[in-house]
Amino acid sequence: PTPVVLDVDTGVDDACALLLAALHPSLDLRAVSCVGGNAPVDDVVRNTLLVLETAGRTDVPVARGAERPLLETPVDARHVHGDDGMADLGWGAATTATVDPRHAVELLRDVCREAAEAGRPVTLVPLAPLTNIALLLRTHPDAARGISEIVFMGGAANVGNATASAEFNVFHDPEAAAITLDAAADLGIPVTMYGLDVFYEPVVDRAAAAELVAVGGRGPAELGGRLMDFQRERLGGEHATIGDAGAVCAVIDRAALRTETLPLRIELAGSWSRGRTIVDRRDWSGAIAHDPHGEAPVRVDVALGVDGERYSRLWRDTLLGRGER
Ligand code: BDR
Ligand code: CA
Repeated sequence: PTPVVLDVDTGVDDACALLLAALHPSLDLRAVSCVGGNAPVDDVVRNTLLVLETAGRTDVPVARGAERPLLETPVDARHVHGDDGMADLGWGAATTATVDPRHAVELLRDVCREAAEAGRPVTLVPLAPLTNIALLLRTHPDAARGISEIVFMGGAANVGNATASAEFNVFHDPEAAAITLDAAADLGIPVTMYGLDVFYEPVVDRAAAAELVAVGGRGPAELGGRLMDFQRERLGGEHATIGDAGAVCAVIDRAALRTETLPLRIELAGSWSRGRTIVDRRDWSGAIAHDPHGEAPVRVDVALGVDGERYSRLWRDTLLGRGER
């Protein structure tokens, strides 16, 4: 199995991603780091522990990380994710899962170092503002030896969601996103951006959510179905998206994702565009594309298309216990 580490702001769709990473047999979930984003970090930790306990994975270390962005004022997204940050299910808190005493950045450092020593580097999957990851790569650059690639949910080549320009995770901490990309380029870590151009494609309709809920027993299938019901009702429309879980699907089934390797910059100024991921899709082969700063130095595999039905099925089958290695 592929060793993976998730960084989350759980979060309805972060919960969906955690369930998949915890249960899919082709993944070895090594650790989860928490960061403030959709909800304050203490809520994120509580939600994350509940999800892992529900998945029967209290063996996975969970640590509390940055409570605020490097520079920005924190904003949460309770209007999307509920007052408790995870669908207001009323399931209470985990009873057996406990939080690791280390800071999330220390947990990430230790897991990456161990992975490097074992010769089994991890795939790092940030699904939240990149604060913890920026701090990790700047404070402990040697951790990069234990990271085979970064597959992050964030950004958009096209329109944003937090603003017309910016996707929430990058909008929330633009400096952290810029530092992460810069450090990854410096340290030779390949990066895939699983952004809004694909994020909404893998969907779960009412009937599929009902099938999950019907399993009952407060297990992972029921949890996944209830999360999808909440999101569909909260946002309106015919279906919910598995959102962040799609980035985990991308680690399991890369063939269903269409990517292009493109220059990427993070907008750190801008009156209305701060936090935008500027994906340079111009044709540089001729004389027309011109940039006074030259081509952006950081190149990222940007997801531009996905087989949404395949990822949705992968997620549902895993929760229903039909996962394949
Ligand atoms: C991202 O922001 C959060 O609302 C979701 O969990 C996802 O990571 C989408 O912009
Ligand atoms: Ca998230």
